[in-house]
Amino acid sequence: MAFNKIWYTIALGLLLPFSYAHTDFFTSIGHMTDLINTEKDLVVSLKDYIKAEESKLEQIKKWAEKLDQLTDTATKDPEGFLGHPVNAFKLMKRLNTEWGELESLVLKDMSDGVKHKSFLTAEDCFELGKIAYTEADYYHTELWMEQALKQLDEGEVSSADKVYILDYLSYAVYQQGDLAKAMMLTKRLLELDPEHQRANGNMKYFEYIMAKEKEANKSSTDSEDQMEKETEVKKKDYLPERRKYEMLCRGEGLKMTPRRQKTLFCRYYDGNRNPRYILGPVKQEDEWDKPRIVRFLDIISDEEIETVKELAKPRLSRATVHDPETGKLTTAHYRVSKSAWLSGYESPVVSRINTRIQDLTGLDVSTAEELQVANYGVGGQYEPHFDFARKDEPDAFKELGTGNRIATWLFYMSDVSAGGATVFPEVGASVWPKKGTAVFWYNLFPSGEGDYSTRHAACPVLVGNKWVSNKWLHERGQEFRRPCTLSELE
Ligand code: OGA
Ligand code: FE2
Repeated sequence: MAFNKIWYTIALGLLLPFSYAHTDFFTSIGHMTDLINTEKDLVVSLKDYIKAEESKLEQIKKWAEKLDQLTDTATKDPEGFLGHPVNAFKLMKRLNTEWGELESLVLKDMSDGVKHKSFLTAEDCFELGKIAYTEADYYHTELWMEQALKQLDEGEVSSADKVYILDYLSYAVYQQGDLAKAMMLTKRLLELDPEHQRANGNMKYFEYIMAKEKEANKSSTDSEDQMEKETEVKKKDYLPERRKYEMLCRGEGLKMTPRRQKTLFCRYYDGNRNPRYILGPVKQEDEWDKPRIVRFLDIISDEEIETVKELAKPRLSRATVHDPETGKLTTAHYRVSKSAWLSGYESPVVSRINTRIQDLTGLDVSTAEELQVANYGVGGQYEPHFDFARKDEPDAFKELGTGNRIATWLFYMSDVSAGGATVFPEVGASVWPKKGTAVFWYNLFPSGEGDYSTRHAACPVLVGNKWVSNKWLHERGQEFRRPCTLSELE
């Protein structure tokens, strides 16, 4: 009976629109042909998926059969079996790695990744390189043109032309001062197109400059030569901040030595016997030793996060930075996000969060800035910076009248699918966002001197989006909570 009723409802739902809207039915036929193609595409995808799953199952089946036989033999005479070193070795290998690999295969979702997977063509890379070029951004011109060329070299069929790419690429490389590489690329271009006018001209020019440089080198004294060699060695050792920043953002952080890692712990923390946390201490983890960065886990609930986000959303606006020249707030390409400020007076949730920060840091929050909520979309980032004001910008926080930013508290209010780490390029630390956690570090030494190792950045979000909120604590009010020292760097 119930079954019939369901069918009746479905049938009615399907039929009524047709009978009431006869004309719509006919005029929409043209558009409906598109739907046939859509459905055909769906069938193709579905078949691909089935194929992938079947081949996966096939692999698993083969493995199971092989091991079925093997374990049969092995269990009949375990000692005899293992007496052969190759059998023993292979057993260890299976248990060490192969079973693990099989597990990953079993757990692998064959449809996973397809959702997000899409590739840039050589043509796309070329277009992006050209955009960078028109902005005189030769660093990115080089990266994009290199990628376009690589894809063509790998055999991608494309309308992008190697000669054009090499033309842009060699120029971008020349602009960045790598004459030898620019020459090599120009040579490559000329092999493809010996009559290329600009390339021929450039080649002559490069050769002329090279010869002049050689001449200058010859006449310089030995000691100068020595000095030059030394600076070259130094140059190689020294990774510019930009490269460190990008490496850390890619997750290629310099790993800490095990000896150093051993000094990092996790613990339950009661806020130094704070009455609110004695019975319910919080989880605290050392993220880094110098500067000391700690992470609090499960420190803000999903409900609190929702409230904070809802309060902030209507007020989000493009984030600003202090212009070091004028001291005024402006927007900047190196800080791409939207943010809003929330006061403790407007919501008990914000007030509760402020109190939590005070309890767990032991620092007075009454002199802190309001809670800042920030949202980074895809591409959103904040390039390396200090949170504190340097000696040459004494007026940065003047209007607050509470001194410099002594410490930073940063809540992660979302997970990020890819990208979005907070990285410290000076020391090689990266902190990955994890919803519900918060990190804390001091920007100033107890003497009031700025700690330059706290230079940090918010990496570009690659997939998804990132919500954080921060509290910048200031010097005033901490006189007895974090007393000054006499020596500067203590
Ligand atoms: C900042 C900051 C880091 C981050 O807003 O000052 O450094 O990961 N944010 O969002
Ligand atoms: Fe910062």
